[in-house]
Amino acid sequence: MIDKTRTLLVTTALSYANGAIHLGHLLEQIQADIWVRFQRLQGHRVLFISGDDTHGAPVMLQAERLGVTPEQLIAQMQAEHQRDFKAFSISFDHYHTTHSPENQQLLETIYHRLQQQGVITSQTIEQLYDPQQQQFLSDRFIQGHCPRCEAADQYGDHCEQCGATYEATELRHPHSTLTGAVPVLRQSDHFFFDLPAFSDWLQIWTRSGSLPDTMVNKLQEWFHCGLKPWDITRDAPYFGFAIPDAPDQYFYVWLDAPIGYMAICQHFCQQQPTLSFEQLWSPESTAELYHFIGKDIVYFHSLFWPAVLKSAGFRLPTKIFVHGFVTVNGAKMSKSRGTFITAHTYLQHCDADYLRYYYAAKTMATIEDLDLHLEDFRQRVNSDLVNKIVNLAARCASFIQQQFDHQLAATLFDPPLYQIFMDAEPLIAEAYNSRDCAKAIRQIQQLADRANAFIDQQTPWQLAKQPEQRERLHAVCSLGIHCFRLLMIYLKPVVPSLVQRAEGFLNEELTWTAIHQPPLLNHRLNPFTPLLRRLEPGQIKAILAESASGSVVTTAPTPPPAAADSSAYEPQATPITLDDFSRVDLRVARILQADLVPGADKLLKLQLDVGAGETRQVFAGIKSAYPPEALEGRLTIMVANLAPRKMRFGISEGMVLAAGAGGSEIFLLQPDSGAQPGMRVK
Ligand code: 2FM
Ligand code: ZN
Repeated sequence: MIDKTRTLLVTTALSYANGAIHLGHLLEQIQADIWVRFQRLQGHRVLFISGDDTHGAPVMLQAERLGVTPEQLIAQMQAEHQRDFKAFSISFDHYHTTHSPENQQLLETIYHRLQQQGVITSQTIEQLYDPQQQQFLSDRFIQGHCPRCEAADQYGDHCEQCGATYEATELRHPHSTLTGAVPVLRQSDHFFFDLPAFSDWLQIWTRSGSLPDTMVNKLQEWFHCGLKPWDITRDAPYFGFAIPDAPDQYFYVWLDAPIGYMAICQHFCQQQPTLSFEQLWSPESTAELYHFIGKDIVYFHSLFWPAVLKSAGFRLPTKIFVHGFVTVNGAKMSKSRGTFITAHTYLQHCDADYLRYYYAAKTMATIEDLDLHLEDFRQRVNSDLVNKIVNLAARCASFIQQQFDHQLAATLFDPPLYQIFMDAEPLIAEAYNSRDCAKAIRQIQQLADRANAFIDQQTPWQLAKQPEQRERLHAVCSLGIHCFRLLMIYLKPVVPSLVQRAEGFLNEELTWTAIHQPPLLNHRLNPFTPLLRRLEPGQIKAILAESASGSVVTTAPTPPPAAADSSAYEPQATPITLDDFSRVDLRVARILQADLVPGADKLLKLQLDVGAGETRQVFAGIKSAYPPEALEGRLTIMVANLAPRKMRFGISEGMVLAAGAGGSEIFLLQPDSGAQPGMRVK
């Protein structure tokens, strides 16, 4: 039973102001927005806030690169971010910035409280300094190997591979990103937050149900290694808030960023007479606080942030919801593959609801990564949303419109079927509430299947030919519309634009409570217009092409291809005749199964459907670019008449075709959908 008297303060991670919003960022925003929209539909008061994270070296660096001031850059980025979030229907109640007087004031208040609590210490430390540029190097100006997992090219504050945080001086093989010089050590006085003082308390708090269990286990490793004092000082030059009484020193962005959640809330409360910032953030607050974050920033949110809040006398988060990363076609998003897709590029070609639906269909409240497999995305949107759901309305609406003057029947045909639609409510609600959107979508699709089966069975197109069946035709099509209406209510948190158009057609604003109320008998519909178009292969191609062309306005100029890339563009080989070429039997094949090969570094073992019932086994050196599961079901092109080769791991009966330089830059050739295994490539 959902308690109806709650106030929920919900945040998403503040977006860095040095780059465009991309499909990776959108996973969190969409997941949070679906949850928020669902909670609002339950009647709860929700304050959904977010904003831009504006401070730190990357913003300073980016502004310098673009020849603008940091203030100009962050203003432009905030406008772009808000434009993109709005277009994706992210329903923030308030979106603001960390570069605000409210944030500076709260930061200073908190800092003074921490000082009073005796948890700020001062230490002279050795800092990395670029001898060529003659300046201290903040985290983003240093790269090296992670001290925990040895991943290369990690910045000086935390590792994007394993999530560890550390001091820049702990990086192995460091170099300055400004000049490439090896940094030297210089002394500087820094302030530290005494995180170890909170170790016992944090061990209890982190196990109190505020974090996902998988994260609690991860935290045990960190506790086991011992928490370290946290350096909250950065030396000039730095874009941020100055530390009072500390010339040329600034607060580290990761101190002021989460305080930004509070400052943004405060800025909103100033405009809302019925909201009290003090009450919301007091330790006695009855409101609930939820942070949606990615798995890479758990350390900041589960250790530093609660310890700072506790020490400064504020409330603590109710729950921290953690998600994984987005991969595209089974691999990390890559600019050269065209899979580093910005929100803006996506929106030039596709409806936002397609992506919202796909992410929802694959969201299971776990921290697993989510793969946006573009062909699966296209097929799923078309089969689920367009063919099953929108088409259900289209199939029925034309008869209601043409033969019954837009009016629904006065009685309900097949009440047990409608009852099944109503009875699904608690299960769907519980799935949304626990953020298992995939489960909600499965339930909704099962209902859609039932409704379509009902229409198939009742054959309204046949009934329409028999005047004596006119009443039945009316009743059948009306029930189809009633079912569609409940599907739209269930999908309202996920695809708000589609549902808004459906509300226009249904001539009604859809509410969750309407699920258990009588259906719309004798109700007048508005004219039906197509609610959602099919997603065509050309739209996906256009996104990839535009993303590969790197036309994102605010990113730095594209660097020349790195040395490793150049082999992808080899000079042309010796010419061959058409005759030579025609001796190569190129065929479409479907990858039925892909497996790792024990003992092989580069190979995957593929089982290929080559048409006419024939299956071939092929070993392909593509392991570095594709996890096996990303390949299964996909079409490719193979050389079908290559003589079988005996390899160490078995016989290879052909070859699949791919382009690229190797490593993660391997692009398997793939025909347009519609091609069938066995088709000859000419
Ligand atoms: O990782 C990030 O994208 C950060 N900008 C998130 C900050 S969240 C909060 F702490 F402000
Ligand atoms: Zn690491």
